[in-house]
Amino acid sequence: MHPAMSHVFCFGLLLLIILDPHTLPQCHAATDTLSPSQELAGRDKLVSLNGRVALLGFFQTGSNFSNGTPKWYLGIWFHTVPKFTPVWVANAENPIANLTACKLVLTRDGNLAVHHQATTVWSTKANAATNTTVAALLDSGNLVLRSGSGASNSSIFFWQSYDHPTDTVLQGGKIGWNNSTGLNRRLVSRKNAVDQTPGMYSYELSGHNGDTSIVSMFNSSKQYWSSGEWGGQYFSNIPESVGQKWLSLQFTSNKEEQYVQYAIEDPTVLSRGIMDVSGQMKVLLWFEGSSQDWQAVYTAPKSQCDVHATCGPFTVCSDVPSPSCSCMKGYSIRSPQDWELGDRSAGCARNTPLYCNNNSNSSAADGETDKFYPMTSVQLPADARNVATATTADECSLACLGSCSCTAYSYDQGACSVWHDKLLNVRQQGNGVLHLRLAAKEVSSSKTNRRGLIIGVAVGASTAALGLIFLLMIWMRKKKQYGDDTQGGMGIIAFRYADLQSATKKFSEKLGAGSFGSVFKGSLSDSTAIAVKRLDGVRQGEKQFRAEVSSTGVVQHVNLVKLIGFCCQGDKRLLVYEYMPNGSLDHHLFQSNALVLDWTTRYKIALGVARGLAYLHSSCRDCIIHCDIKPENILLDGSFTPKVADFGMAKLLGRDFSQVVTTMRGTIGYLAPEWISGTAITSKVDVYSYGMVLLEIVSGSRKSSKQSSSQDGVHEGYFPVRVARSLVEGDVASLVDAKLLGEANLEEVERVCKVACWCIQDDEFDRPTMSEVVQFLECLSEVETPPVPRLLQAIAGQSNPKMM
Ligand SMILES: *[C@@H]1O[C@H](CO)[C@@H](O)[C@H](O)[C@H]1NC(C)=O
Ligand SMILES: *[C@@H]1O[C@H](CO)[C@@H](O)[C@H](O)[C@H]1NC(C)=O
Ligand SMILES: *[C@@H]1O[C@H](CO)[C@@H](O)[C@H](O)[C@H]1NC(C)=O
Ligand SMILES: *[C@@H]1O[C@H](CO)[C@@H](O)[C@H](O)[C@H]1NC(C)=O
Ligand SMILES: *[C@@H]1O[C@H](CO)[C@@H](O)[C@H](O)[C@H]1NC(C)=O
Ligand SMILES: *[C@@H]1O[C@H](CO)[C@@H](O)[C@H](O)[C@H]1NC(C)=O
Ligand SMILES: *[C@@H]1O[C@H](CO)[C@@H](O)[C@H](O)[C@H]1NC(C)=O
Ligand SMILES: *[C@@H]1O[C@H](CO)[C@@H](O)[C@H](O)[C@H]1NC(C)=O
Ligand SMILES: *[C@@H]1O[C@H](CO)[C@@H](O)[C@H](O)[C@H]1NC(C)=O
Repeated sequence: MHPAMSHVFCFGLLLLIILDPHTLPQCHAATDTLSPSQELAGRDKLVSLNGRVALLGFFQTGSNFSNGTPKWYLGIWFHTVPKFTPVWVANAENPIANLTACKLVLTRDGNLAVHHQATTVWSTKANAATNTTVAALLDSGNLVLRSGSGASNSSIFFWQSYDHPTDTVLQGGKIGWNNSTGLNRRLVSRKNAVDQTPGMYSYELSGHNGDTSIVSMFNSSKQYWSSGEWGGQYFSNIPESVGQKWLSLQFTSNKEEQYVQYAIEDPTVLSRGIMDVSGQMKVLLWFEGSSQDWQAVYTAPKSQCDVHATCGPFTVCSDVPSPSCSCMKGYSIRSPQDWELGDRSAGCARNTPLYCNNNSNSSAADGETDKFYPMTSVQLPADARNVATATTADECSLACLGSCSCTAYSYDQGACSVWHDKLLNVRQQGNGVLHLRLAAKEVSSSKTNRRGLIIGVAVGASTAALGLIFLLMIWMRKKKQYGDDTQGGMGIIAFRYADLQSATKKFSEKLGAGSFGSVFKGSLSDSTAIAVKRLDGVRQGEKQFRAEVSSTGVVQHVNLVKLIGFCCQGDKRLLVYEYMPNGSLDHHLFQSNALVLDWTTRYKIALGVARGLAYLHSSCRDCIIHCDIKPENILLDGSFTPKVADFGMAKLLGRDFSQVVTTMRGTIGYLAPEWISGTAITSKVDVYSYGMVLLEIVSGSRKSSKQSSSQDGVHEGYFPVRVARSLVEGDVASLVDAKLLGEANLEEVERVCKVACWCIQDDEFDRPTMSEVVQFLECLSEVETPPVPRLLQAIAGQSNPKMM
């Protein structure tokens, strides 16, 4: 025998011994490939070559939530993300209860399969051209089945997980179809946050022959969102998807296939696109080393309440201040456990059965028949039936009572609408009245409640008087006890938790909730109305909190909300502000039932906010960057003077500005591009957000408007595009909020629009400072016509050279 040959032979034998699972059952060093002689079992894992993105193995979710039966899945997840994030699941519909006898193997016909004892739990079912296949986990997070012999072309895949996505698409993955095979790659939401069973929502490509769009569907039948048609650079309803520095959406269409892909420019940022349990499609980013959670940079639809049945039947969906679902009156959550995990498909159930359903003979005594409870200021559900014969409100209510399946009616100007069975998609903030059918007991119990309320108020008032005296006593004692220390510098009061508890009547009157915690109304002993903010997630210790508060307290300006005091006791962190009777700007701009602000007031608000921000940025000792300017954070006092709220929050919550993106705190739609591009954050991020707010002050609506037809390839509906266009054409009148009925000083409108357009320039150096903005708005300097931001240029394309 040739000496070299014997070497080869020995090496082969050695290899066999090492790889034989029976010889070394415990030894499975992390590798990216599974070959026919190997198996993956228990805690074994495949790790992609770069070790970053992909990890394949068995994982278990929610053992606490599945009635004690563990559920094991074979799946892929992010290796370097501390928060467990699955991106693909093989046996989603067929979870494994006992992992002991379970393994992933390559079968004799070359397929990849999960075996549990003698049964096949899952298999790739591919037509491999050879039986010597290997499974490899690529850096992209794609699990592929390919030929294992070196002679064959290894970039031909017999099967790949990218072709069978679950709820997630990764960069490089496709949504769409291959025309020759009929394969359709679509995202399907999961049942809830832990259960990997497919849920109700899907995100897919729809339509053939040219008019292709991306759609979101409920139960594969009810379409609730569409991207609109592809116009060459973007889908008509999502013009904001172009020109962004960090995220782009590409559509490819040829004879063989049509698909969309997303791309993130920065390769160091991890990303995923997911059809969420809530029915929203989201693109999320993870900044390695600095993120605590995934950050959403794109959602569709923007508002969660636009998702069909997102809260389930017999619920009310609300977008403000944050997305939330609540049961209708007389109803309770049907499955609190699922609800908690984000699966609200079961919705709410009646507390008391309808009289009708128990007694088909409706000759009962009057008090026992069903009654109606009016739900005011709601947006009515779409699937109404018209009752033409009913011409009065009474007839309409009788028409509903006459049918046992009728659950609600609405009567408006001679038109009677009734709803049968489940009530879906009822939203807060509308102008309809929905009469909800309830058992008589439920409706009359609300009357008892009202009586209870009156008693409660009377008792409360006398308790308040007592409390007042009590508070005064505490105050005096406290002053003695702590001396100067209670005054945290410039008249900031250090409250005790108990003081604030009684001042807010045990936090009973909630004014709102934001990303930092909840805000409650209260009043001090001298009957000064206050707003108490209870903070969540403040990381600082007592000393640092006090230091931050007293430095924030020094910041005083007529256009900044005044900090009265704080509380820092145990793990409790509260801030006490002056109370703003007119609420926040978003309410007045966007809600249909609010008082319409006239143009003079709007201009005053625009100028006031600019002054407040200019003061924050330059006049006070350390420059404070707000980081979350939006209408919700602009409060209005009794005379509609604007006051910027939540400044200093960024500091209190421990954001480090010297670092490149730490945690994004801003709000989508108002975020400047540099938040994600990775450059350092400056006060110009506030300028950008302020520009977006200005556009909303002019238009009176959220910046991205509903779908509208495209003309000349320019998207008419996207407000910033219309602004840029109107500025060039000298027609700003069309931009003004219709609610003003043409009552606006057009010279001022043009000035505001020009300033706004300067503020939202992509390059922060092109944006003015807030002091310059104040000068522009005070007419102390002239505003030039701004160049069109890159984002808008991309949207406008070559079709309108006038704009360039
Ligand atoms: C499951 O329950 C145990 C004990 O009740 C608890 O310690 C654990 O945190 C729970 N796990 C989850 C994911 O909720
Ligand atoms: C899983 O299966 C093994 C062997 O079949 C058995 O010993 C073990 O008790 C089972 N575990 C559970 C939780 O059923
Ligand atoms: C592949 O197929 C050939 C014949 O069809 C068979 O001899 C061989 O054992 C198979 N290999 C594996 C790994 O199953
Ligand atoms: C392998 O196949 C791909 C696509 O099918 C082709 O682009 C590539 O040139 C092939 N490589 C070899 C070595 O045949
Ligand atoms: C479409 O599917 C066919 C059949 O499997 C395959 O040959 C072809 O490469 C696929 N096309 C693309 C673009 O993936
Ligand atoms: C989903 O669709 C199927 C078939 O069209 C239907 O039977 C089922 O009731 C629907 N489920 C829901 C929750 O609407
Ligand atoms: C793709 O296939 C569909 C049917 O699945 C067909 O209607 C359509 O015309 C095909 N498109 C092209 C470009 O071949
Ligand atoms: C209606 O029927 C349910 C059971 O079907 C019963 O529990 C309930 O007491 C009945 N209600 C009335 C008012 O008769
Ligand atoms: C309804 O009426 C039928 C006959 O008219 C009677 O037999 C039945 O007992 C009645 N049911 C109730 C619940 O009153």
